[in-house]
Amino acid sequence: MPGGVSSPVRAFKSVGGQPIVFDRVKGPYAWDVDGNRYIDYVGSWGPAICGHAHPEVTAALQEALEKGTSFGAPCELENNLAEMVIDAVPSVEMVRFVNSGTEACMAVLRLMRAFTNRDKVIKFEGCYHGHADMFLVKAGSGVATLGLPDSPGVPRSTTANTLTAPYNDLEAVKELFAENPDAISGVILEPVVGNAGFITPEPGFLEGLRELTKENDALLVFDEVMTGFRISYGGAQARFGVTPDLTTMGKVIGGGLPVGAYGGKAEIMSMVAPAGPMYQAGTLSGNPLAMTAGIKTLELLKQEGTYERLENNTQRLISGILKAAKEAGLPITGSSISGMFGFYLCDGPIRNFEEAKAADTVRFGKLHRAMLERGIYLAPSAFEAGFTSLAHSEDDIEATLKAFQQSFAEIG
Ligand SMILES: Cc1ncc(COP(=O)(O)O)c(C=O)c1O
Repeated sequence: MPGGVSSPVRAFKSVGGQPIVFDRVKGPYAWDVDGNRYIDYVGSWGPAICGHAHPEVTAALQEALEKGTSFGAPCELENNLAEMVIDAVPSVEMVRFVNSGTEACMAVLRLMRAFTNRDKVIKFEGCYHGHADMFLVKAGSGVATLGLPDSPGVPRSTTANTLTAPYNDLEAVKELFAENPDAISGVILEPVVGNAGFITPEPGFLEGLRELTKENDALLVFDEVMTGFRISYGGAQARFGVTPDLTTMGKVIGGGLPVGAYGGKAEIMSMVAPAGPMYQAGTLSGNPLAMTAGIKTLELLKQEGTYERLENNTQRLISGILKAAKEAGLPITGSSISGMFGFYLCDGPIRNFEEAKAADTVRFGKLHRAMLERGIYLAPSAFEAGFTSLAHSEDDIEATLKAFQQSFAEIG
């Protein structure tokens, strides 16, 4: 396997050392093949919001397994999950299930172009929307606005239609619209950025994008693959009160099985085949096992007080991390929303990817190793958000903060 992993972020290239090979996961914990236990703040990169292998999810899956693993035909479970998503996410009136976040973003881009009859799209530096060609434009570099591809194998002709702007910069978006009249299909963004560390939208940013897209007859698309059902039950759009035209989802709605989804206004979604002419399909889409894990996970999340618990626990964690670093005399800035958090080893505030690059990545690598030695598994990159789950107890948070105190003191 290239690099020994099935997805690049799992490798330890940016922090040094070899990736840990997991044997099993349960609740807030992961065990490696040597039997070491870690408190896990990656949570399979987001899906494990109820904790790994939640007994109710596992039991529902066992039952579903008996009925078969794939139908290749409509199943009732798809309808159930679709209803739950439509009820929860303000922008979603119709939804199509796919198998990953990448697939959802790839399809939504085609839909943006099909609906508006325009080819260009605006994305933000540091936002990740999966690995489809048009999204692989180098974030943060000067050439990004020229639409030069980020990876060999991506044709320049494809990324020439991808325009980029710094996050939290409405003026830059305004200029792109002015420079490309009637050519931009829409704006896609992570409403809270988790792929450049953890960057929150400044007050007015999401609202401003909503207005700008309306003024220019373009679509606003929230990529809620990471934030959906995590920032709140209705995602970032419910929390911030800004409703996009289209939304992509993944991670949490699959409860740990491979799922993605895109949805939005019925008028736009009716373009998707077979209701409309925009083609998009999938052999395993709406798979009964994935739908079952998603439904059970959303049922658990819907219970009273879940998001308050996530919010409070995560707030305690990030406050403790910031305090520990400051006590060790290290520069740090960070924040959290609901069950998502992040910190940078530099002075803040961080408003965009360019500013995030000031973070001390060498020191982060040392911190990552020191934490691993103390049984804490953080994302192996200075530029990935951390995730907590409902299974992380106060004791887990306390143990984690103790490890941070010792680690900061060691690396300082
Ligand atoms: C915001 C966002 N969009 C899209 C994706 C791609 O999803 P997947 O890895 O399921 O293809 C990710 C993955 O981390 C993501 O964070």
